[in-house]
Amino acid sequence: MPPMTDPLERIAALGPVEPYRVKMVEPIKQTSPDERERLLVEAGYNLFRIPAEAVLVDLLTDSGTGAMSHYQWSALMQGDESYAGARSFFRFRDTVREVFGLPEVIPTHQGRAAEHLLFAELLKPGQRVLSNTFFDTTRANVEVAGAFADDLPAVEARDLGSQAPFKGDVDLLRLEAALKDASAGEIVGVVMTVTNNAGGGQPVSLANLRAASALCRRYGVLLILDASRIAENAFFIKEREEGCADRSVAEIVRAMGECADVLTMSAKKDGLVNIGGVLALRDTDLAERIRRRMVVTEGFPTYGGLAGRDMEAIAVGLKEVLDEQYLAHRIGQTRFLAGLLRDLGVPIIEPPGGHGVFVNARVFLPHIPVEQFPGQALAITLYSEGGIRGCEIGSVMFGLGSGHPELVRLAIPRRTYSNAQLGWVATTFAALRDKKSSIRGVRIVEEPPVLRHFTARFELV
Ligand SMILES: Cc1ncc(COP(=O)(O)O)c(C=O)c1O
Repeated sequence: MPPMTDPLERIAALGPVEPYRVKMVEPIKQTSPDERERLLVEAGYNLFRIPAEAVLVDLLTDSGTGAMSHYQWSALMQGDESYAGARSFFRFRDTVREVFGLPEVIPTHQGRAAEHLLFAELLKPGQRVLSNTFFDTTRANVEVAGAFADDLPAVEARDLGSQAPFKGDVDLLRLEAALKDASAGEIVGVVMTVTNNAGGGQPVSLANLRAASALCRRYGVLLILDASRIAENAFFIKEREEGCADRSVAEIVRAMGECADVLTMSAKKDGLVNIGGVLALRDTDLAERIRRRMVVTEGFPTYGGLAGRDMEAIAVGLKEVLDEQYLAHRIGQTRFLAGLLRDLGVPIIEPPGGHGVFVNARVFLPHIPVEQFPGQALAITLYSEGGIRGCEIGSVMFGLGSGHPELVRLAIPRRTYSNAQLGWVATTFAALRDKKSSIRGVRIVEEPPVLRHFTARFELV
């Protein structure tokens, strides 16, 4: 690349301008390559076992890892910690009603608690739930209830390189066929995950969501909206979908909420908080049954495992996340990192989604066979080379033979890292690109029976 001499070009290369300024800092420890090598050996080459303090840029997840605003921090001080009927609950409830439009509101300690309460109450063994693509905890909660979870992703999602605008959509033809062929009561609901995390953070169009909702109503099944990243999804709709450019993100989010009979949300994403979840419903009777159930495991229905201050912070976060300047920067950061990697010749899932960049490790490291887990190999090397922690999403997570592409997800925490720190990620990839034939695959030497990616141990091949 020729050197950039034009100052404006150099400024543009710095990435999107932050719509916030920094008020408090958390120092990050620098580690040496030798130290990282030692930590990797001790961790059995599993990045979940590396102490976070020894990570320079932590892109393991965007869940609960973002920075709160000063409005949220000051809201914490207004937390009402009364056991029942706390003022903070009513603020939380009214905000959820206003933003999404569903009347029955239940706070939960995180997204999977909302999923667990819902599916434990709703499902009987042998029943089925369909989805554009289940997130893993959602799937697990369906299966724990003895039911089946089937993914029906849109055909466009299969081509990892295509620039189709809404690769998170559900396949409407297969959805209708499944609903038509099912016996009465066999299919209970359709989960629409927005954005589609397991599918690369790709958005769902409003037209697709509305069509899925209409099918659900026609066949008498519930449309369950997994709204964890609904504001990011709405931003893509505004940007890409015909007829939506003049609508505000808040209006689009509300329109998406109108499609849902039930809404679950991990507030650790678009709630802009470090902990919390939401379950919202239209059916008062179902909500009451869930409230009776939750007292046993989660807490009284007006706090659901959260402190009053947590509900205050979520109430502020749910409004703040609709700020289009915030969203432009958020999606802009993801695009910034994606653009740098693309220009370096690193293969990524296109177009980049909302919350992170997904690198195709199989294509980047063609000399490592799937049996030697190229995604894990790349994730390990990113850490040893640059102190960067990403997450393997491939055969370690889903099993060999799953057919899942071998990816490394670089999830970007909200309002947390500067563009220069994301630049460091790209610099590290540039160093790896030049010596990638020396990167070695791994084999598993120890693994638990379920969710092995969290605790398995590996060795280099
Ligand atoms: C789409 C989606 N749904 C549900 C969840 C589960 O939420 P939580 O981690 O708050 O339990 C996640 C978490 O990553 C997610 O990405």
